[in-house]
Amino acid sequence: MSPSMSHVRTRGAAFLLVPFLLMLGCKDAAKDAPPPAAQAEDPAAVHPEIWPAPKWPFAKDAALEEKVAALLKKMTVEEKVGQVVQGDIGSITPADMKKYHLGSVLNGGGSSPGNDEWAPPQKWLALADEFYAASIDTSDGGVGIPMIWGTDAMHGHSNIVGAVLFPHNVGLGATRNPKLLADIARVTAEQVRTTGIDWTFAPTVTVPQDDRWGRTYEGYSEDPGVVASYAGVFVKGLQGEPGSSDFLSGHHVISSTKHFLADGGTDQGRDQGDAKIPETTLRDIHNAGYVPAIESGVQTIMISFSSWNGVKHHGDKGLITDVLKKRMNFDGFTVGDWNAHGQVPGCTNDNCPQAINAGLDMYMAPDSWRGLYENLVKQVKDGTVPMERLDDAVTRILRVKFRAGLFEAGPPSKRALAGDYKMLAAPEQRALARDAVRQSLVLLKNNGALLPLAANKHVLVTGDGADSISKQSGGWTITWQGTGLKNADFPGGTSVWGGVRSATKAAGGSAELSTDGSYKKKPDVAIVVFGENPYAEFQGDLKVLTLPGSMTQHLDIMKKLQDEKIPVVAILLSGRPLWQNRELNLANAYVAAWLPGTEGGGISDVLFRKKDGAVNYDFTGKLSYSWPRDAAAAPLNVGQDGYDPLFPFGFGGSYAEPADLAPLSEDPGIAPELMSVGSFLDKGLPVQPWSLRVTNGADITRVSATPLEAIGGRVKVTAVDDTVQEGARRFVFAGDGPATVEISGEGAADLSREANGDVMLLVRLRRDADAPKDLTLGVTCGEGCGAQLPFADTLAGVASGKWTTVGVPLKCFAKAGADVSKVNRPLALASSSKLDVSLSQVKLGTVADKVYACN
Ligand code: BGC
Ligand code: BGC
Repeated sequence: MSPSMSHVRTRGAAFLLVPFLLMLGCKDAAKDAPPPAAQAEDPAAVHPEIWPAPKWPFAKDAALEEKVAALLKKMTVEEKVGQVVQGDIGSITPADMKKYHLGSVLNGGGSSPGNDEWAPPQKWLALADEFYAASIDTSDGGVGIPMIWGTDAMHGHSNIVGAVLFPHNVGLGATRNPKLLADIARVTAEQVRTTGIDWTFAPTVTVPQDDRWGRTYEGYSEDPGVVASYAGVFVKGLQGEPGSSDFLSGHHVISSTKHFLADGGTDQGRDQGDAKIPETTLRDIHNAGYVPAIESGVQTIMISFSSWNGVKHHGDKGLITDVLKKRMNFDGFTVGDWNAHGQVPGCTNDNCPQAINAGLDMYMAPDSWRGLYENLVKQVKDGTVPMERLDDAVTRILRVKFRAGLFEAGPPSKRALAGDYKMLAAPEQRALARDAVRQSLVLLKNNGALLPLAANKHVLVTGDGADSISKQSGGWTITWQGTGLKNADFPGGTSVWGGVRSATKAAGGSAELSTDGSYKKKPDVAIVVFGENPYAEFQGDLKVLTLPGSMTQHLDIMKKLQDEKIPVVAILLSGRPLWQNRELNLANAYVAAWLPGTEGGGISDVLFRKKDGAVNYDFTGKLSYSWPRDAAAAPLNVGQDGYDPLFPFGFGGSYAEPADLAPLSEDPGIAPELMSVGSFLDKGLPVQPWSLRVTNGADITRVSATPLEAIGGRVKVTAVDDTVQEGARRFVFAGDGPATVEISGEGAADLSREANGDVMLLVRLRRDADAPKDLTLGVTCGEGCGAQLPFADTLAGVASGKWTTVGVPLKCFAKAGADVSKVNRPLALASSSKLDVSLSQVKLGTVADKVYACN
């Protein structure tokens, strides 16, 4: 192979056509003149020379290189491999770190010290000290290299209870204010430092192209220009100015831009999916943020779970090595995503030499680190992984550790800002976050100039989002999914209601709160707050860009208020634009507030006038994502053919001009997303397309009308109450032979992403008699495939007569032999003995009263 061709992947029938390659530099030529089919090139071949070549802001530093080389020379293979493997604090102890010389830990969205998401910051700092001490321990004769700890400080130090949380990136995109972003980055770094953590997996520089993607809110914009305008300043805000003495000094942290590449370009917006796009789109749209990030000296880049034209990024040497490192001059290290290497063909979570050989420098191996470590040691020794490649990976990691001053920094608790917990929520931080909220709001309708409101009136604040800081904050908030939280989990935070209450009180007005639109005193105006409930990653993928079809209460409230001639201000809390024509019609004024975080006062700041009647703060936010005209079509973005949004990219009203909106068509053109993904049984009824049945293996009775005698009277089924009347089904087994209650489907569900992500099968149940010893709970995956877990002890441990949500990690089924990629029965509860159990809900989720242990 000639040197100029060395970048071309030789996979399958990949041919290099030199003239075509040259043409690829020009978008239109590539589009207009596809290569003849017979000579078609591998669609996942890269051409590094057509990619930009940003300048890496660090000159070769001979002293640094010498230090790194000297250290590397002293390291054993085991120590080197330890540096390239990162475990999750939920699955690794300091003792493990010491034994295996691991170079890094992370806390995933669902992990925390002592497995307590509410652990105080002191516990985080103490654990950082323990890992640090383990990493530098040289009692076994090793070199002792300080570890680094990575966290997802996505919108502030968002794993920590009490930290001020900023709007998610979707809202920050609307501000178009890079200076604000720099400040947020600086403050976030300070927050992270208080807990002794030195690395954040941020900023996300994705450029989401299909808002059905569950991670749309992690992206600043569908427009590469907006993303690029933030990426560099955010990296500098976190790390400091490269080349200055301030770089990675005390109050800064290491940054990681993610997810390389085109995580937001996947087909139909599917998380961890495949981006079926030309190389030029990959370069011009999705790579936009990496160029300024590299020029700003970003020290780490996270590789995406997703694929490009069928090739998983974790195995893509062309993109990681030839484009990112060689062409784009990235000289920091690449880090993997959560077991994402396991998705490379031929790999498993604990065995994947392909990834390091493709250019991955540090594996994120949360629970698989030990097996992966052991396999890598073997693979280096037998040459599967060339020593040169391992040395390069370790060199890159050590450079970053030296630049960060870790070898002199001492224990995390002795570093700048450590333990200074007031820096999690300093008044300056609240003010900054509140300002960010104001700037992120986008005014979509203001008929008759209803806004700004006079604050000396009587105001009703209602809707399920009125007083919910959790709903304001979305996913990646304390817990991974942001679910299971109450206002008390946000000390010092302010809901929308809290902000309105203060604003009206200060002006001599009054306010009242109700979730259902009712009121004690007829209000002059009502503010209705509603929208998406928190989600993260694939749990937020949608088929249709609507609120769930079951979410209708806010519409009823708005109709009722309109009938009562009370003007309505609608506030949408959401991670993306949605089809909202009915809500837009029902509201007199309508504001897209995105996911504003803990400082809800920023909303009332803009909604209300000053006492003297003047505007307090005007709306300045502009859409950074186009707003869909109908729910049916795949959303199109600015610049794409056929672009016809309801509100275009850049739209945003203000008080300076009228913002009236004529009535819109209310035909969504498609059924709203009725079936919430991952719900199998709801209020005692099977969720389409699943069915609820009782079987003894031979006979099957479908549970439809109740009461019912199933399988020849062996199981009696009745309707009982849970949260609503007859919202559950009670199953009484006579105990005279095998019987199973099951949820079954014609097709199969692929739950592999959920199993990898520590998602559980949540079963809300009530036990009314003792649990039989032979009771099992399982899933099946087609003929002869499945896993039945012993369930007697778990059920016995649930208080009798009390509704309880039991969570069974999907991983437990996989460990017991089920193929979770094709689950056709997500629940099978079986016993031959007497049983009396009621079920109201079966779904996927992360919040349970009781978690099944399968280790
Ligand atoms: C972790 C997250 C991770 C996800 C992977 C969860 O269990 O807590 O941090 O992103 O799994 O999909
Ligand atoms: C997510 C990343 C995150 C990591 C660690 C993954 O599942 O995709 O964005 O940084 O988990 O929590």
